[in-house]
Amino acid sequence: MSTLQDKRIILGITGSIAAYKSATLARLLIKAGAEVQVLMTEAATEFISPLTLSTLTRRSVPTSVSSEDAWNNHVELGLWADLMIVAPLSANTLAKLALGMADNIVAAVYLSARCPVWFAPAMDLDMWHHPAVQANVQRLQSYGHRLIAPGYGELASGLVGEGRMEEPEAITALALQFFARAHDLSGKRILLTAGPTYEPIDPVRFIGNHSSGQMGIAIAEAAAQRGAKVHLVLGPSKLKPTHPAVHVHPVQTAQQMYEAAMQYFPDTDAAILAAAVADYRPSEPAPEKIKKTDEAITLRLIKNPDIAAALGQQKQSHQRIIGFALETENEEANARNKMLRKNMDAIVLNSLRHQGAGFDSPTNRIAILFPNNNTRYFELKRKTDVAHDILDVLAQWWNQSSNSSL
Ligand code: PMT
Repeated sequence: MSTLQDKRIILGITGSIAAYKSATLARLLIKAGAEVQVLMTEAATEFISPLTLSTLTRRSVPTSVSSEDAWNNHVELGLWADLMIVAPLSANTLAKLALGMADNIVAAVYLSARCPVWFAPAMDLDMWHHPAVQANVQRLQSYGHRLIAPGYGELASGLVGEGRMEEPEAITALALQFFARAHDLSGKRILLTAGPTYEPIDPVRFIGNHSSGQMGIAIAEAAAQRGAKVHLVLGPSKLKPTHPAVHVHPVQTAQQMYEAAMQYFPDTDAAILAAAVADYRPSEPAPEKIKKTDEAITLRLIKNPDIAAALGQQKQSHQRIIGFALETENEEANARNKMLRKNMDAIVLNSLRHQGAGFDSPTNRIAILFPNNNTRYFELKRKTDVAHDILDVLAQWWNQSSNSSL
């Protein structure tokens, strides 16, 4: 059973009517086994008393960087935690976090925190939808922090809409899930392909596609966070993973991606193939830039190697392959066909018909298909969260096989 035993959590509370929920959140986190250090902005103390929180957590509750009786060492606090949750996060402190300001204790500790940071905004619906607030939310997400999106319901103003802080029970469940996943891929080696391939036409032109690399990089980072060693064979992408357990092998063409994948696959436990690989390449790339002399030119294309099919043929009994399918019609049938033809153990389907899914977007909406005709459907999520849903499949397989060998 998952627990928060030995986990240190900073709970930052800012000025919002939803601050009353933070007492329940602190209590639930402690009940699950965590040590909780509450920090409150001065505005938060208008809504709930620090005494309530210090009584619940049995720790003193700093409300400013320096108070009459103490200098609250924000750097030490930032380094102490395994997770920092700011709930509720007001529009005011959100803006401070986004800009790197440090004039309250929550913002000061946030700037020193090396642990994952989650933020659960709470505000009125028009404030929440204001472009300035949304830009700040995106900014925090771009720093790698997790948004716990506000829910829909009646707000303190009497208006009804989005802006309610997520319920403490749901936030606690996320924390439990997060720490349960923390090391569940330890000792595993995973090969990933990601990004597009560029097939040269001449020294300045190529055949490519819209893949940004986000999906594959998110899986690589998430797998490394969960303890795996990752070989990421990455086509030309502006993005780069930062986790030290992700070894990046940059390539340009499908042929290079094939060679790298074939090299690393034998030594891995699983391959996840998120790359959008060009099926064809120009048979003879011109050695010099093609000049605009003719009215029309013809490019002869030849087939690239199918990396997934080649790995599927080589696959040993201990290895698993999860492929991707990007479809525009007959989605499930086409994806299932690819999975079976390429000897995959599962295939992740994303459809260009779903808004916010597929290429070059921070979100994706997937279904995971299995050879036994089972399918798991997921809602639209950030690719960083989608990555975990996909890795859960591997974790479950490995968990089942280690239990059955007991
Ligand atoms: O990078 P992003 O902008 O985040 O976008 C992510 C994505 C949309 C590219 C990704 O989620 C995705 O769907 N990748 C696979 C897209 C695709 O080209 O699928 P496919 O149906 O052509 O190929 C099926 C599978 O075979 C894929 O796992 C593919 O990597 C693999 N394949 C295909 C051709 C080939 N020559 N070699 C391969 O290994």
